[in-house]
Amino acid sequence: MSALVELDDIAVHFKVRTHRSVLPTTLRAVDGVSLTVERSECLGVVGESGCGKSTLAGVLVGLTEPTAGQVRYDGQDMGVRRSKELRRRIQMVFQDPVASLNPRRRVRSVLAELIDCHDLVPDAGMTSALNSLMEMVNLPTRVLDARPRELSGGQRQRVAIARALAVRPDVLVADEAVSALDVSAQATVVNLLADLRAELGLTIVFISHDLGIIRTLCDRVAVMYAGRVVEEGTADTIFTGAQHPYTQALLRAAPDLRRRSTEPRPPALEGEPSGALDLITGCPFRPRCPEAEAACAKAPPPFIHDGSHRTACIHASSSHRATADTTPRN
Ligand SMILES: Nc1ncnc2c1ncn2[C@@H]1O[C@H](COP(=O)(O)OP(=O)(O)OP(=O)(O)O)[C@@H](O)[C@H]1O
Ligand SMILES: [Mg+2]
Repeated sequence: MSALVELDDIAVHFKVRTHRSVLPTTLRAVDGVSLTVERSECLGVVGESGCGKSTLAGVLVGLTEPTAGQVRYDGQDMGVRRSKELRRRIQMVFQDPVASLNPRRRVRSVLAELIDCHDLVPDAGMTSALNSLMEMVNLPTRVLDARPRELSGGQRQRVAIARALAVRPDVLVADEAVSALDVSAQATVVNLLADLRAELGLTIVFISHDLGIIRTLCDRVAVMYAGRVVEEGTADTIFTGAQHPYTQALLRAAPDLRRRSTEPRPPALEGEPSGALDLITGCPFRPRCPEAEAACAKAPPPFIHDGSHRTACIHASSSHRATADTTPRN
């Protein structure tokens, strides 16, 4: 049986003008990403700013047309012009609920319009459909009569989730959906997403810089660097037995993931990611990699597979042997 969503060799290239050349240059925001998302699972996507996470999210929900590659839903090619029915299936929750909700409109009218547009509920059932949406996101029904500015940040983000759920999607793509919230609102929204997944069987693609939340919420994690997936595995194997030097550096740089707060903090990742415009031969992480050697310059590293874990690094298998004795793996 095929996965619910399959991204097959997706590329998104933008033509941009730079000071380096008078002619437009190609920026490879996403460069050959293949990923699958199983029904009801939560896939985390991590990586430094500019590595292509939001661009990939745009492709998933049909906002960005890929330059190459295919998005399949339940085995079916979603095509360039997605049907209304297929668009409904994958919904996005953005970082900034203020920007994604019209300030002049009451929550009730926004949600009702969406439900109407997709003919999901007969007119007589609208009130109860709206009430149950509020219940799903743990908000009182009076919120239906509020405008976005009358709500707290956490409430607004729950309204944004209700808006996504209004069309009864199977997949929710949350792009930095809790990053703008304070810690307690973050916890509320993360718990809500976990509950929705358990209760509705919702499939979630969760994009975040917060590795602590990724670890709590996600079953699997894909690590992106310079438009590519460089490592992918279960959350357990990523967090306890990361193979790629880039993933290892990301984990070292996350303070809340250190085992004891008294432990000296290892150096964080140095340098900037090479821009998507820079054409680096071989491994794109090579200029920053502490393990880089001449062989890394030859060609982009192929994935080394270890069960369901894959790592695009020629050193992956040897570093696996080095950690195999001490690291619990699935
Ligand atoms: N419409 C566009 N036109 C040109 N370049 C773009 C466009 N959208 C994104 N980019 C570029 O593509 C690259 C990837 O951007 P993207 O927003 O996907 O990164 P990201 O991983 O989501 O970063 P962040 O963590 O900061 O949100 C960046 O270099 C960005 O400048
Ligand atoms: Mg982004």
